[in-house]
Amino acid sequence: MNILILGSGGREHALTWKLAQSKKVKKIFIGPGNAGTYNLGTNLKLDPENFNEVKAAVLENKIDIVIVGPEAPLTMGIHDFFLNDITLKNIPLIGPDKSAARLEGSKDFAKAFLTRNKIPTSAYKSFDKTTLKEATAFLRTLSPPYVIKADGLAAGKGVVIVDDIYEAEKEVEAMLNGKFGPAGQKVIIEQFLKGIELSVFIITDGFTYKLLPEAKDYKRIGVGDTGLNTGGMGAVSPVPFADHHFMNKVKQRIIDPTMKGLSDEGIVYKGFIFFGLINVEGDPYVIEYNARLGDPESEVIIPRIKTDFFELIEGVAKGDLAGRKIEIDERFVTTVMLVSGGYPGTYDKGKSIHGLDLTHGSVLFHAGTKKEADTVVTSGGRVLAVSSWGSSIEEALKISYRNADLIDFEGRYCRTDIGFDL
Ligand code: GLY
Repeated sequence: MNILILGSGGREHALTWKLAQSKKVKKIFIGPGNAGTYNLGTNLKLDPENFNEVKAAVLENKIDIVIVGPEAPLTMGIHDFFLNDITLKNIPLIGPDKSAARLEGSKDFAKAFLTRNKIPTSAYKSFDKTTLKEATAFLRTLSPPYVIKADGLAAGKGVVIVDDIYEAEKEVEAMLNGKFGPAGQKVIIEQFLKGIELSVFIITDGFTYKLLPEAKDYKRIGVGDTGLNTGGMGAVSPVPFADHHFMNKVKQRIIDPTMKGLSDEGIVYKGFIFFGLINVEGDPYVIEYNARLGDPESEVIIPRIKTDFFELIEGVAKGDLAGRKIEIDERFVTTVMLVSGGYPGTYDKGKSIHGLDLTHGSVLFHAGTKKEADTVVTSGGRVLAVSSWGSSIEEALKISYRNADLIDFEGRYCRTDIGFDL
């Protein structure tokens, strides 16, 4: 089998790393990939959001299955593009079609879906420019902090949480006035939920699903969960509070009703569903859905899958996931993300990375890296994820931090408290 993985981050490197271990996989192509995937397959110069470029790569390289890493191609309709193209329609693409990807692409759709399927989530209302006055009135019925979300994709910046009512009103107005472009044409205001967040993942062929390991990621840039939000500064799996009892609630109250809701609404979902959950005094609530795997969660959940991951991918492609096996490593995996100085604001690129060959006992998943002649240089905000196994969180973290310390580039930064709260 020849596989094409679309994307260029740590998640895509982790997928490539795992699939490269499968006997059934002949060649892996990654579009566009990074310096880590370069060592495991063939990086292709393509833009995953340019479907004609993807098509050319699929045909030229005789691709049998396409796996989509990031959300944007999915919400833009890459699955539908494949189904509507005579030369691509029989090539399975792992990732939901445009209608199903609205679970991530439209917060308004997701909240309405959750509500009509009686899946636990916070109270909310959505507004547009014509209902600005009602938005202000609704804000005044809530107590702080106020949660304001742009309906569409806003490069991870579309969720704002503020304590001050006047700031909240200004934020709603700014979003509706185009702060995030078309993504803010609708704005969702929701009740704040207090608890600890976790990420739960399934892979589904539209009929049944397999539960993947859960994870907790660390979103803020600063130690002690302070400062600006990032794509994720590290992650841990398993999550100690997500015990059997809690995960049963997740299955019964959230995953099963989501699958039933999709089926009742005629949506055949093929791919990954990422449930962004919050544990409120022992009860799980949905904060958001994503139509993909998480990053850096992938860098801790994929290393915990003991069985051949291609079996699951093939199960989605053929629609026979029910008969496939998944076995999970009970050990902990932690990852520590090394980022460029200045991230998540502005940062420099092209810094040489040193010490990659000095590490021992971790897997280095590349995120924002590229090859330049014989050296590896930074090419993004999140640069490398250092993932390690251990019989406890502490043991795994010790290895991740020991190896993280051996890697250097100008401006290098990492959080030093990943997993300390668990
Ligand atoms: N780590 C959060 C995400 O992938 O959206």
